Amino acid sequence: MSAASNDQVVIFDTTLRDGEQSPGASMTLEEKLQVAELLDTMGVDIIEAGFPIASNGDFEAVSEIARRSKNAVIAGLARAISADIDRAGEAVRNAERGRIHTFVSTSPIHLQHQMNKTEDEVLEIIQRTVAQARNLIDDVEWSAMDATRTPIEYLSRCVEAAIAAGATTINLPDTVGYAVPQEYREMFEQIRANVPNSDKAVFSVHCHNDLGLAVANSLAGVTGGARQIECTINGLGERAGNAALEEIVMAVRTRNDILPYASKVDPVYLTRASKLVSAVSSFPVQYNKAIVGKNAFAHESGIHQDGMLKNAETYEIMRPEDVGVRATSLVMGKHSGRHAFKDKLVELGYDLGDNAFQEAFRRFKELADRKKNVYDEDIEALVEDEITIQGETVKVIALTVIAGTGGPQKAILTMDIDGRHETREATGDGPVDATFNAIKAIWPHEATLQLYQVNAVTEGTDAQAEVSVRLEDSGKIATGKGADTDTLVASARAYVSALNKLAIRSQRIVNVDDAIAS
Ligand code: KIV
Ligand code: ZN
Repeated sequence: MSAASNDQVVIFDTTLRDGEQSPGASMTLEEKLQVAELLDTMGVDIIEAGFPIASNGDFEAVSEIARRSKNAVIAGLARAISADIDRAGEAVRNAERGRIHTFVSTSPIHLQHQMNKTEDEVLEIIQRTVAQARNLIDDVEWSAMDATRTPIEYLSRCVEAAIAAGATTINLPDTVGYAVPQEYREMFEQIRANVPNSDKAVFSVHCHNDLGLAVANSLAGVTGGARQIECTINGLGERAGNAALEEIVMAVRTRNDILPYASKVDPVYLTRASKLVSAVSSFPVQYNKAIVGKNAFAHESGIHQDGMLKNAETYEIMRPEDVGVRATSLVMGKHSGRHAFKDKLVELGYDLGDNAFQEAFRRFKELADRKKNVYDEDIEALVEDEITIQGETVKVIALTVIAGTGGPQKAILTMDIDGRHETREATGDGPVDATFNAIKAIWPHEATLQLYQVNAVTEGTDAQAEVSVRLEDSGKIATGKGADTDTLVASARAYVSALNKLAIRSQRIVNVDDAIAS
């Protein structure tokens, strides 16, 4: 079916807001800018860049993304609180096209237990806050939080009030991931039929994955008349996550015969986006994840392999190259120059600033000296590590570890704290413990280690180690990743990265769930 006969659906990516809200997934400003740039390039229509009232860091990220993005509409989230709406309006002011996205709960359980408000009071809040947002900007989205557990009659009155006050998009989220597809589709059909001014707004789906139905529900909502889909790369999001952007884009494309919709997203960027978001959020992608998992296009069984050799379509409904999967290629060796390295980065989809490029090139040369074969995966791990380090205020500079059977193991570590170098020695129960103790000696903290995991980026004993560390401090969680051929250097980087992210998380003064309305 040709795209011209398709209805256009708008892709609204909330990786940087709902995705980043998931425990442990905090991103630095530099990381958010990288993700936003890729989303903008790949054709995402709307990027929800953050929750500007939450912290100065969130505000800065939304404003900077608004200033830089070339194509996408940039949205900032606001609770139904006057100060939130003003702050979101200020953050998106410099966007070519900005949007304020404001929300309030509508379900009886939220009204009674969380907000302590009556239905009429909430209706008044909707009118007042949507009108305030509309006075600041023409593009206003209103969301009925917990819409799927709201009686349809009351939900209809809320939607009508929001549209009358100036909302141009109406989002009906399945906030707790409770709905099933038929029910979700019917909700859109009923609201569109019942609400007299429903033709004045675009309807939007926003589904959480608690029952594993987020993508199915999103597509069902579209068949019910919604034309905006809110989703995240890798399905990143609180609890079981949000609907996965890559799955939605490929479902619509692959089954266009029964889902006759079109999106502007170019699927060739999906693998790259998945890798970037996994790197900056430190959330690994499960091997069997649809579209972007390591095994998504791997055929192991004899019968499948035989069929694939005869005709790929016997078992393959999508081609790996459609989503940007490349055959693994041997890159360069120690004789490769700056130019070849730059070309390789462009091929892999990276556009580094001058400083980051110089540093990445220096590390590439170092790696090529230590490692016989340098693969694309090595370059990706190195560059993603570099992107993370760029945004951090505290960095690992040098590490020497004395390990072996003799004990106690000793680490001598130098770190850069806001431009000042500090060196400390520490011992520990093993080299990793000694390294982490040295970090603690330089940067004292109360955080406890919840997870320490090492993976090899490629095969062979000279492979780079990719280390993930998860830390917890007073209920706040942050994960960090580090890559190096030296597992202990990678471990130190991962730990320091998690500490940097914990610092970002503790700057947040409000969370989306803290106070639902004034
Ligand atoms: O899940 C939800 O209801 C949300 C709203 C803030 C839109 O994320
Ligand atoms: Zn959500």
